[in-house]
Formats: sequence, C-alpha cells, structure tokens
Amino acid sequence: MSEYALEVEGLVKEYRRRDPPLLRAVDGLSFRVHRGCLFGLLGPNGAGKTTTLKILTTLLRPTAGRAAVLGYDVLHQPLEVRRRIAVVLQETAVDLFLSVRDNLLSYARFHGLDRYEARRRTARVLEQFHLLEVASHKAMDLSGGLRRRVQVAKVFLVDTPVVFLDEFSTGMDPLLKREVMDRLRKEAARGRTVVLTTQILSEAEELCDDILILHRGRSVARGDLNTLKLLSKDVYELSLTFAVLPAGIREELEQLAPVRLAIRNNSVEIALRAEESRVLELARALARRAQLLHLEVRGASLEDIFIELTRSAGGPPPEAPSV
Ligand SMILES: Nc1ncnc2c1ncn2[C@@H]1O[C@H](COP(=O)(O)OP(=O)(O)O)[C@@H](O)[C@H]1O
Ligand SMILES: [Mg+2]
Repeated sequence: MSEYALEVEGLVKEYRRRDPPLLRAVDGLSFRVHRGCLFGLLGPNGAGKTTTLKILTTLLRPTAGRAAVLGYDVLHQPLEVRRRIAVVLQETAVDLFLSVRDNLLSYARFHGLDRYEARRRTARVLEQFHLLEVASHKAMDLSGGLRRRVQVAKVFLVDTPVVFLDEFSTGMDPLLKREVMDRLRKEAARGRTVVLTTQILSEAEELCDDILILHRGRSVARGDLNTLKLLSKDVYELSLTFAVLPAGIREELEQLAPVRLAIRNNSVEIALRAEESRVLELARALARRAQLLHLEVRGASLEDIFIELTRSAGGPPPEAPSV
C-alpha cells in the first residue's frame, strides 16, 4: 500500500461557463500528503479548494492529471476510495427525511459497523456534539448550522483512514469549533489523515501540521507551520482614521511600495513588508501629521500574504480575494 494518503499529480479541472467560457479552477496541481497528517488546503474564496476536494473524494472528474487516495486512483478505483474516506462538504449531505439519530446510524452501518457498535457510537457522538435534544428530529426541520453539526459528527462515528472536511467551521459556534479542532487533533494522533480546507489562516496555523496555500488553482506555498509563519513574518497591517486626511498622503505612502493600500474617506489601510519597529515608526510619524481618530497595527492577514506571495511570484496582480 502507498505510504502516502494523498498523491496528486498535474491535476487540472476546467469548468465550462459562459464568461469566461472555460475556467481553470485547478491548474496543474501536484502534491503528496503523508499518512497521519493534519493537512490544510488554505486559500481565499474561489482558489479551487472545494474543486480539489471533490476530485479527491470521487465526486468530480478531473479534466487532466491524476489523484490517488491511499494509493487508489480516484477515477479508476472510486469504490476503493469511497470505502476509506469520510467527507464533510459545504453543501451538507444529510438525509432530510431521516431523524438525526437515523442519519448517524445509517452512516455507521454503511461503513460496516454492526448494529450494536453503530448504536453505541451514535449515542456517543450525539452527546459529544450536543445533539441529544434533537436526536429524533427530522434533519429537514433543523437549522443549517445543526445540519452541519450532524455532518461533522459523522467523521467521528467511523474509522475511515482518511477524513475530508470542507470549511467545516463555517457557521459553527466558537466553543464547538474548539471541541471539534481538539477531536480532529486526536484523530490524527490515532493515525487518521485529516484533510481540511479553510480560508482562515489562524485555523490552519492552529490545526494543521502541513499546509498548502492555493491561489487560482495553483500551489503558491507549501510547508509546515514554521514555514508559513516565515511567510507572514514582517508583513504588517496598519489601519488609520484621520480627523482630516492629510494632503498628498497617497503619493507618500505609495513610495513605501506597500503590499496593499486602500484609502477611503478619512481612513487608510496599508499593508507593508517591513520590520515591526519601522512600521511603528511610520505609525508615529503619521500620528504627528494630523489628528488621528483611530490607529491599529496588526500582523498580516491572509489576504496580504496572498498578495505578497503572488506578487513575488511575478504573476499578474491577483483579483482581490474576498477573505
Ligand atoms: N460547478 C461549477 N461550474 C462553474 N464554475 C465553478 C463551479 N464550481 C466552482 N466553479 C468556479 O471555480 C473556481 C474555484 O471554485 P472552488 O473550487 O469552489 O473554490 P474554493 O472552494 O476555494 O472557494 C471559482 O472561480 C468558482 O466560481
Ligand atoms: Mg469552497
């Protein structure tokens, strides 16, 4: 059996659309992921995360290239793949006509657990995911957030060696999100491979030991936490609101070759690659120029890192990612 949980080689996915007629959502992606990893596909909206995940989980055919899960080709051995994965997609796949409990039971049975074990584990995840109160409600009567919770609970019901989660934390309350993150870590420690997508840098930082940054269907960076931290090191965001915007400030700030600069009314947002002390010095200098109503200095956001990464890659300037 393959030593890799995932092997992706030259993967391409094109969607036929009206405008543009052909969209390359995944554009020659290649990567490998070791077993037992918490692997994160990190990227802004439209980067190609869901498309990649759908190909890996046999839900979508690639236009070109190859992908394998635990050595099984997703195109030629889809059943072998499906038997070994649990998937949580953005569109929640729950059986709307079944109760929460029966949704979980039938999922456990599908994955080969006997009736006793299916019941035992269902009771456990109902409790873990605070779903006992709604256990006998039909899924169609639940809010979107609760349905999603049922979907995520399924991952912890079965022992499939690989787990895929597409932006699992969207709409989840922070407390539960934390619990799920803890559980995912434990699953990885038990040897399961967890593959997740996220737009949230801090989520990937906190959870993943191997991260691939995806932008326009391509890999722009890959590495562990420390590598990623180096990418965001020395990029700072400065937000300022002036009582009256000083004249000529745009030209002045543009001279600093900022990663990003936006000026709206009396507010300035600027992202810079510079040492922290220099950024603070700049903030002080600006504060001396005019009365400031608001000042904030932050570490770089994902958006800044993207702009910085794609800029240094020498490509055309990216469209503003909606992070
Ligand atoms: N079924 C589809 N038909 C046409 N275009 C699509 C379809 N699904 C996704 N896309 C486009 O492909 C690109 C990547 O989408 P997606 O994989 O969903 O990105 P992400 O999950 O990172 O937000 C986007 O530009 C999106 O609009
Ligand atoms: Mg998506």
